[in-house]
Amino acid sequence: MTELPFDKTATAEQVSAGLDLRGKTYLVTGCNSGLGLETTRVLGLRGARVIGLARRAVVARSTLDQLGVKGDAVACDLGDLNSVHAAVHALRSLAPIDAIIANAGIMALPTLQQIEGIESQLYVNHVGHFALVTGLLDRLTAEGRVVMLSSGAHFYAKRGIELDNASGEAVPYDPWRMYGRSKLANLLCARSLAQRFSGSGRTAYAVHPGVIETNLGRHVPDKEAMYDRLKPMLKDLGQGAATQVLVATHPDVIAHSGRYFADCQPAATIPEGQDDALAEALWTWTEGVLAKG
Ligand SMILES: NC(=O)c1ccc[n+]([C@@H]2O[C@H](COP(=O)([O-])OP(=O)(O)OC[C@H]3O[C@@H](n4cnc5c(N)ncnc54)[C@H](OP(=O)(O)O)[C@@H]3O)[C@@H](O)[C@H]2O)c1
Repeated sequence: MTELPFDKTATAEQVSAGLDLRGKTYLVTGCNSGLGLETTRVLGLRGARVIGLARRAVVARSTLDQLGVKGDAVACDLGDLNSVHAAVHALRSLAPIDAIIANAGIMALPTLQQIEGIESQLYVNHVGHFALVTGLLDRLTAEGRVVMLSSGAHFYAKRGIELDNASGEAVPYDPWRMYGRSKLANLLCARSLAQRFSGSGRTAYAVHPGVIETNLGRHVPDKEAMYDRLKPMLKDLGQGAATQVLVATHPDVIAHSGRYFADCQPAATIPEGQDDALAEALWTWTEGVLAKG
């Protein structure tokens, strides 16, 4: 297996240096902010077209224009399945996709919020992306990739995936446990996709980008103190976007399909992150949610 010569200091520009992505098309959710913005910028720098998704098309359009990246802007609110289905429909008339980077997310909502009776982080981070990705599988190129933004915070999923507590009401609400659960769901989804892709040229990965000060912290009441505490381990945006750009583009990662990456290397997960039966149960549960919606 080819060693990946990058570590936590690598930037998105460095991991993609020398790659010619002209003629390739990448879809990035949450293209307008933080890691999605940097990912979009660097993919464009390497010649790729980017289909930028944001809650509002006008925001995605102005992001692409400001970055000078060629591509298409599509509205997609991951907290609204009608919006996700409309995005999938719109994407059918656009170019085949070389990689879907499921990057958008929300973190640590301070109180329990629900969408369609499901805890909102699980809904936006996992259910919305599941609907988008599974709706677009036939738009992926033969060697297409799916990149799910997970997080080291999946370690906070102390009660596992809690499919019997999708509403978030069954046990006292904890913003970090529920965020962690949603990120474990992202990780398991990448694992399930990789299994379904097995034997084809397609691959899937989960990513922890590191800790980066972005708008993601907007719901954390003491966010300045949190980022102050985390200062020694903070990455800048370029370093933060490196792992997702690496697994979306680099030829040497495909042997690691299904793995969780951190600091530009395959990395360890909690035991539930390796649990194929759990991944299948989550897949089936999520299909059930979509069938109802
Ligand atoms: N930053 C970190 O330290 C860190 C660590 C581990 C994992 N991650 C993961 O990395 C990903 C990117 O995070 P970031 O740090 O770049 O955060 P960010 O700057 O807050 O960007 C998040 C993006 O998600 C979009 N989004 C939120 N809710 C949405 C919805 N309902 N529908 C569609 N888009 C929605 C946001 O759109 P609006 O601008 O319209 O709100 C924004 O574009 C997330 O999945 C996060 O969990 C980040």
